[in-house]
Amino acid sequence: MALYSEKVMDHFLHPRNVGVIEDANAIGEVGNAKCGDIMKMYLKIEDDIVKDVKFETFGCGSAIASSSMATEMIKGKPLSEVANLTNKAVTEALDGLPAHKIHCSVLAEEAIHSALEDYRRRQEEA
Ligand code: FES
Repeated sequence: MALYSEKVMDHFLHPRNVGVIEDANAIGEVGNAKCGDIMKMYLKIEDDIVKDVKFETFGCGSAIASSSMATEMIKGKPLSEVANLTNKAVTEALDGLPAHKIHCSVLAEEAIHSALEDYRRRQEEA
């Protein structure tokens, strides 16, 4: 069996939603101290819906594939649903990741949750 699923390879080679949203109103940045990879998520939230999402990942192929899949999974979704996104769901949507690469999908979950925290902080300050 191949180490990486076709979906992982597809999202790694053709990542969706790469880039920056200049007027994002929620930004999450996380890193993994062990591997040194960094992931940044930009969300444009309107009426409690994720209208747009983009990411930048300085990391491995699994991290790129996980972020790409995660952005597809939250685009157009209500915040209540986005808050429940888990790395397990991202991994399943990618048809699995090798065990030693699961932490890469955790980074995607954490980046999105960190962006949601940033959004709440901004709402409280406004
Ligand atoms: Fe660290 Fe993939 S090896 S995010």
